[in-house]
Order: sequence, then structure tokens, then C-alpha cells
Amino acid sequence: MSIKNKIQEIFDSVASHYDIMNDLMSLGMHRVWKNTMVNSIRFTKNAKVLDIAGGTGDIAERIARIEPSSKITVCDINQNMLNYGRDKVINANQLKLKWVCADAEHLPFRDSVFDYCTIAFGIRNIADRKKALTEIYRVLKPAGQFTCLEFAPMHYQHKAFITLYDLYSFKVIPEIGNIIAKDRSAYEYLVSSIRKFPIQIDFKKEIENAGFINVRFNNMSYGIVALYYGKK
Ligand SMILES: C[S@@+](CC[C@H](N)C(=O)[O-])C[C@H]1O[C@@H](n2cnc3c(N)ncnc32)[C@H](O)[C@@H]1O
Repeated sequence: MSIKNKIQEIFDSVASHYDIMNDLMSLGMHRVWKNTMVNSIRFTKNAKVLDIAGGTGDIAERIARIEPSSKITVCDINQNMLNYGRDKVINANQLKLKWVCADAEHLPFRDSVFDYCTIAFGIRNIADRKKALTEIYRVLKPAGQFTCLEFAPMHYQHKAFITLYDLYSFKVIPEIGNIIAKDRSAYEYLVSSIRKFPIQIDFKKEIENAGFINVRFNNMSYGIVALYYGKK
């Protein structure tokens, strides 16, 4: 099975429990990381924003709250994730988000149309990162801003910290996945994909190689996650 099909299968399987699983697995920390990401961007009025791999709309919902004039498109390859997101957001009375089911490797948008592109915990799951970064660059307007939130492999931490983190990642998280989402292997896969993701300076280079300038990153929570920024 291709990586893309495997990822589709995983998110089809976990979509209905995705939000609750995020709270349980990260002990609520994903909310802090996502708030930090969105609050760190200075959105201009009426900006066109594309949230890629937007899943159930967590990032889009936050952007709509802090900058209600923004025109936000949520794009994800998985229709089930988008459906859950749309229901959640309709309940929150935020009806003006656009939901587009599409592959980040082949974005169905014209060149240079968005002021901002965001992606949270998505780039790691995209089969061809290089293609996706090139597409993000293409659809951003000149001087448009790219912001990416992603887990980082914990390569430089103290050994005891890594041991505890690994224990939590490989034993506790799959067990929670088994009990709540009834899918242990999906969470085993998602956890192991973090270890395969490039370290911060290498991913920064990948962003630069796609053409972005002023690329930088900030670590959060002792480098468990990192926030990357780039400008077209
Ligand atoms: C871990 S979820 C993140 C969802 C949301 N951004 C969040 O932070 O809660 C990863 C998402 O990436 C999406 N995804 C994976 N490959 C993709 C691709 N090639 N194009 C667009 N979305 C993709 C999955 O369908 C899934 O919804």
C-alpha cells in the first residue's frame, strides 16, 4: 500500500475520535501549541488564508476568531476529517470557512492567491513533502507568509527525558488509541512518523529549498514541537 493510501486509511479510521484523541494524547497541549502558532501570525485585514491538511478545522477556527475579516480555506485530502470539522464549526456558528478536499501535492488553486498558508501537524503526513512545499510557495502571493507547526524528533534532549518521552509515545499513546479510537496501529504509525521527520535545521533547509526566504524556527515544549516560518 502506498504511504498516501495508508495515511488516508489512518485518518478515515480516526476521524470521529480525532479531536478527543488530540486532547488525551497531548494532555491538552495541542491547544497551547495551536494557539501559539495562530497568535504568532500578524494577520492583515481581509487576508486570504489557506490552511493545508486542515483536518477538523482547529487552525482555521482559531484564525477566524482572532481575525474575523480573514477569508479562510481549509484544505485536506481526507473528506471524513473535513466533514467532522464542518459540523464542529457549524455548531460554533462560524459558517464562512471554505472546505476543499484536495491533495497538498496538487493544490487546486491559481498561482499567487493567498496571503498566508498554514499547516499544523500535517506536513509530516504528506507523502511528498518537497512537492507540497513547492505548491505552497506557488499559491502564496509574493511576500506571503508560510507557517508550519510540527512535532520534532527529540534527538538532542537528555537521555532520561527521551526515555520517558518514548515510553509515553510508544506504550501509552497507542493504548489510548486502542481504547478510544479502537485503532492501536494508527497511533503506532503516527508516533513513529515523528521519529522519521527531519530535525529542525534540516526541515528549515527543505523550506528554503522550496524558495522561501527569512526561514526560521522556534522550539516549544523542550523541542517536542517546532514552529517554522518562511516568506515568499
Ligand atoms: C494530524 S492531522 C492534522 C489536522 C489539523 N491540521 C490539526 O492540527 O488538528 C493531519 C492531516 O493531514 C491530512 N493529509 C495527509 N496527507 C495530505 C495531503 N497529501 N494533502 C492534504 N492533506 C493531507 C490528513 O488527512 C489529516 O487530516
